[in-house]
Amino acid sequence: MCGIIGYVGPKRATPILLEGLKRLEYRGYDSAGVAVGLPGSLTVVKKTGKIAALRSVTPKELPGNWGIGHTRWATHGGVNDVNAHPHLDSSGKIAVVHNGIIENYRTLRGMLEHDGVVFKSDTDSEVIPNLIARYFEGDLEAAVKAALNHLEGTYGIAVVHADRPGEIVGARNGSPLVIGIGEGEMLLASDVTAMIAHTKQVVYLNDGEVVFIDAEGYRTTDRDDQPVRKQVDEVTWELNHIEKGDYPCYMEKEIFEQPESIARALSGRIERDIATAKLGGLNLDRRHLREVNRVRIIAAGTSWHAGLVGASLLESVARIPAQAELASELRYRNPVVEKDSLWFAVSQSGETADTLYAMREIKRKGGTVLGICNVVGSTIARESDGGVYVHSGPEIAVASTKAFTSQLAAFYLFTLFEARMRDLSQEEGKRFVEALESVPAAVAKVLAGRDEIQRIGKKYSKARDFLFLGRGLMYPIALEGALKLKEISYIHAEGYASGEIKHGPIALVSEEVPSVFIVPNDGLREKNISNMREIKARGGPIIAVGVEGDEEVASIADDFIATPRMDPRFYPFTMVVPLQLLAYFCALDLGRDVDQPRNLAKSVTVE
Ligand code: M6R
Repeated sequence: MCGIIGYVGPKRATPILLEGLKRLEYRGYDSAGVAVGLPGSLTVVKKTGKIAALRSVTPKELPGNWGIGHTRWATHGGVNDVNAHPHLDSSGKIAVVHNGIIENYRTLRGMLEHDGVVFKSDTDSEVIPNLIARYFEGDLEAAVKAALNHLEGTYGIAVVHADRPGEIVGARNGSPLVIGIGEGEMLLASDVTAMIAHTKQVVYLNDGEVVFIDAEGYRTTDRDDQPVRKQVDEVTWELNHIEKGDYPCYMEKEIFEQPESIARALSGRIERDIATAKLGGLNLDRRHLREVNRVRIIAAGTSWHAGLVGASLLESVARIPAQAELASELRYRNPVVEKDSLWFAVSQSGETADTLYAMREIKRKGGTVLGICNVVGSTIARESDGGVYVHSGPEIAVASTKAFTSQLAAFYLFTLFEARMRDLSQEEGKRFVEALESVPAAVAKVLAGRDEIQRIGKKYSKARDFLFLGRGLMYPIALEGALKLKEISYIHAEGYASGEIKHGPIALVSEEVPSVFIVPNDGLREKNISNMREIKARGGPIIAVGVEGDEEVASIADDFIATPRMDPRFYPFTMVVPLQLLAYFCALDLGRDVDQPRNLAKSVTVE
C-alpha cells in the first residue's frame, strides 16, 4: 500500500517522479505528491485524487534534479491535500514519504508538540520529518538513523533535505523498498515497476536496512551504521509487460493473458516420461518432501481461494491432509506448528502484511514455509525457505485474475509431485499431466465466449445482490467469483457451498437476486442440480456455468455459460474464467473504475 519513488541524477526529477508514481498508482490512489529539490529549498506539490490530478497542478517546468514522490492509500487521517505526502518538518527543509504505520505516533507527536512543533496533518507520518529535524546536524543519513530508533511500527521511507542537494536516504522496516542503479543516476522505489523504464539493475532492501543514494551510487548499512553487502539483481521482464497495449484496461488484458500465463507457470516443470513435476525452487530434499504428513496453507483474498483449491487437491489426489487458512486469523491464534507439516505462504505480491507476519511466526516456531509468489524478489519470496514462482508476469489490476490461475498451476504441480512419490501410479500420473497440459487451450476456448458473457453481465448488472454457489473444488471458485464481483462492481455478492444454501442463504432468494451456479460434470452434479431446482422453485434467476452439451443444467438455468469438458479435477481453471469476465462486464456496464476500485490497493502492506 502506498507507492514511493525517489530520483537523483542529471535529468529533471519531476517527470520521472510523476511517471514512476503513475506506475505505482495501483498501490494506492487516494492522493499523491512530490517534493523536488533545488539547493536550499524544496518545492512540494500534493493533490487529492489520482496521479492525473497531481500532474494537472504540477508546474510543467519545475526545476530540480532530485526528489521524492508518493501515492497514498490512507490509513491515518482522511483523504485530503494536507494529509497527502510528502510531509515536511516544521522548518520546511526536510521532506519524507512514508509507506506503513507508525504505531507510537501519538506519543511522538505529543513529545514533539511539547517542544513547539506545530503539526499540519492528521497522519502518523508527519512525526518522521520532525524527528529527523531534531537530530539533523548536517548529516542527513545520521539524522534519519537517530530518528528511526524512536519509531515503532512499519515503514518504507524516502527522505530529502533542502540543504543536502542530490541526496536521498531510504529505510525499510516492514514495507518494501528497492534501489535502482542507473547510468549516472539512482532511483529508490517501493517496487521495480516504478523504475523499469530507467534501469533493470536493482537491489532489494531488507528490514532494518538504510540506504544513502546520490547520483554516483549507493551505500547500505544497518541502523547501527554497520555496512551491509547487497546483491544486485537483474529484472527479467520488459516495460511492455506493464503496459495496457490495445486493451481498455489492465484487468481485461490480464484475464485474456491466462492461456499464456498458465502455460508459463507449467513450462519446464513437467517430467513427461515419469509423469511427475520438477520444482527446482523448493530447496527441500526428497525425503523431507516424502515425510510431509500435513500441508498447511496461509494466504489472503484471492490467494486464499487458490489455497483452498490446493488443499482440496492435495488431500484428494496426493492423500495428504491439507488446510488453507486466512493468514490474518492464523497469526493471532498461536498456531501449533507440527514437525511433519509443510507450510505454504501464497501471495501474488509477496508483500501482503498478514501473510508475511503469519509466515514469520511459523518460521519462528521452527516450521518450514514455502512461498508461492508472483513478484520476484518480494519479501515473502525472499524470506521463505523455498518455493515456486508462478511467473504470471506483472499483475497491475487490483483484482487478481491471472495470478490466481497461475497459483492453481503451482498447486497442481506440487500435488502431482507429492502424489507420484506416494500412491499415484505412472498411468494415473500421465492422465494428470495430459489434463494439466490441456488447460491453457481450454481456457482460451472459454475466453472465446466473451461476447455471450458480456451479454449476461449487462443483463444482470443492475442486481443489488448475487449468490455464487458451488461444491467441492467449485466452492472456492464460488468464493472467488463473489469476491471478484463485489470488489470491482460494488454489487453485494456472497459465495457459498451449494449444500449450505438451505441452512440460511436461501432466505435471500427472490426474483431480484441472481444465483450463479458452478456445475461441472463431476460426482456432485446431481446434488447441484437439486439445489438449482430449489432456487428455481422460489423464483430466483439462475446463471449456470456448466459443461458444453449439458442440456439439463442449461434447461434449468435462465442463462448458461458453456465451458469445455475436462477431467473434473481441472475445472477450477476453466470455471473461474467466466466468473472473472462476468464481474468485469458487470463493472464495466456500471461505469466502475475496474482497475482501481474504490477503497482498495493492490499490495496490502498494512495489517
Ligand atoms: O498479493 P496477495 O496475493 O497476497 O494479495 C492478497 C489479497 O489482498 C488479494 O488477493 C485481494 O483479495 C485481491 N484484490 C483480490 O482480487
